[in-house]
Amino acid sequence: MPRTLALTGSTGFIGAALLRKLIRAGWNVRALHRQPFLRPRPEMGCGAIQWIHGCLEDSESLHHLVQGTEAVVHCAGAIRGATAAEFRRVNVEGVMRLVQACRKVRPFPRWVLISSLAAREPHLSDYAGSKREGEDALQSAASDMMRTVLRPPAVYGPGDRETLPLVRSMQFGVSPVLGRRNSRFSMLFVEDLADAVGRLLEAAAPRAGATFEIHDGRNGGYTWADLIQTVARVIRKPIRPFRIPDAVLYAVARGNLLMARVFGYAPMLTPGKVRELTHPDWVCNDTELRRATGWSPRFLLEAGMRQTLQQLRHGRWAAE
Ligand SMILES: NC(=O)c1ccc[n+]([C@@H]2O[C@H](COP(=O)([O-])OP(=O)(O)OC[C@H]3O[C@@H](n4cnc5c(N)ncnc54)[C@H](OP(=O)(O)O)[C@@H]3O)[C@@H](O)[C@H]2O)c1
Repeated sequence: MPRTLALTGSTGFIGAALLRKLIRAGWNVRALHRQPFLRPRPEMGCGAIQWIHGCLEDSESLHHLVQGTEAVVHCAGAIRGATAAEFRRVNVEGVMRLVQACRKVRPFPRWVLISSLAAREPHLSDYAGSKREGEDALQSAASDMMRTVLRPPAVYGPGDRETLPLVRSMQFGVSPVLGRRNSRFSMLFVEDLADAVGRLLEAAAPRAGATFEIHDGRNGGYTWADLIQTVARVIRKPIRPFRIPDAVLYAVARGNLLMARVFGYAPMLTPGKVRELTHPDWVCNDTELRRATGWSPRFLLEAGMRQTLQQLRHGRWAAE
């Protein structure tokens, strides 16, 4: 009999890739969505998705979501916001509400929480702080459940609206460089993240409450120069880097935050985001994850960028 899991965030960039992967892996997926109208996605196969209308603020919909499931993959999250409270409401209280919903299911479903490498540096921003607090909330509220926390670094791939402006500017032959030139960061192609979640769900119970870092297999990560040269190779065109001074970034971010508070939208570029973007070390280590699951990534940066740019050329960018 097909097994059933609950997935949150499947209308977003990473969640859409998880949904495709998990259905292909044979799971019946109960997927939370808060959009009033959802277009069917025929390429995913039929019958394996059950859409549950609701949101992380609504306990009743979460109870409905997790009924009859043996696993929960919690990917929904606030990645932009103007205040700490906005991030907390989704990234912390959302986790707690979903754990409460799981208490009524027997046996308890197994949890995979999509956190973020940002949680390693919670002091940098409201987002980072809320991701760490969300992890802590899971570890304490679900201490009697099987649970794993995954901390992806910068994830890229088709459908990612946040990296689209950077990709576009590289296609035009220029690329901003943020922070120090020698800053290093790990990266991950979205399909490899989805594979890892699939593996985690199949793995024998990893260490209770394990927190795993994950990256694309490039130990020591990338510099801006590595990223720019790789994309230049893929598009077969030189890309000229230009460094944006931190002071300019902070000035724009402060202006954006002010506008967001006045006009009531959720901003991406805030002073906290600038502190994240200019942090010199976002390199992570996936040894523990590989050991626990046997997972290994398939896409180094060049292969992942090739796929990403191919999809962009074919106009397939919106989360599918
Ligand atoms: N992208 C990255 O590089 C990256 C790196 C590390 C970790 N992460 C984590 O990965 C997760 C997904 O990120 P993403 O880049 O895919 O973001 P995204 O495209 O903005 O997707 C966010 C998803 O969460 C849902 N969501 C947000 N608030 C919700 C609420 N209150 N109730 C129900 N659903 C809600 C959104 O639903 P709607 O479609 O209705 O808005 C959407 O499906 C987040 O937890 C993020 O922290 C992302």
